[in-house]
Amino acid sequence: MQIAIDGPAGAGKSTVAREVAAQLGFKYLDTGAMYRAIGVALADAGIDTADGAAVTDALPSVEMKVEFDGDSQKVCVNGQDMTGRIRSPEAAMQASSVAAFPGVRDKLVELQRRTAAGYDIIMDGRDIGSYVLPDADYKFYLTASPRARAERRRRDLLRLGQDVSEEEIEAEIRRRDAQDMHREYAPLRQAPDQVLIDTTAMSQQEAAAEILRIVRGQA
Ligand code: DC
Repeated sequence: MQIAIDGPAGAGKSTVAREVAAQLGFKYLDTGAMYRAIGVALADAGIDTADGAAVTDALPSVEMKVEFDGDSQKVCVNGQDMTGRIRSPEAAMQASSVAAFPGVRDKLVELQRRTAAGYDIIMDGRDIGSYVLPDADYKFYLTASPRARAERRRRDLLRLGQDVSEEEIEAEIRRRDAQDMHREYAPLRQAPDQVLIDTTAMSQQEAAAEILRIVRGQA
């Protein structure tokens, strides 16, 4: 079975997806982590992540692997585990920049589809229901107000020891929304076949419970 969860940054997708995966005994693939890992790796190599030609030229030398380790996921680029380095606001912007380039998307989508084929899986991202897994059994679109999303991201970052102001996070989220929604190739957009869940006034546990009700046919 395949479950797709899409939506903008900070809507709570990964917490909700992780909870639903745990309840159903499914794998959870965080596709944002893959864009983050490739963005950080290219920046490490001195490449300007907004330069489409430079990013695309570098792609053949980038080898990405995703491994499941119990209920967590590890993303390696050229043998290096990137997992601990991809959660900063800077990594988020680098991810959003490289995600606009078709060569990057094609490479990661191919790996995402190959990974999905082996498991009952929940995947979250921006284009999962619309493009990566168009035949997914269930498709959700999670969103929330920019303020609610910024508050959530601030709490997540604090937990990781990063103290970033809410204003800064909200500005970053708005920039990233604009970039992810207005890119030419596979933009973030709610599709008619996705069930909309607005988490502005809902906890992530409530959102996960709502998804579980629908998947279990109790809605
Ligand atoms: O979900 P996230 O915030 O970790 O994603 C980081 C960036 O990666 C996001 O701003 C856009 C890009 N992304 C994408 O274009 N497509 C996906 N399926 C997942 C993420």
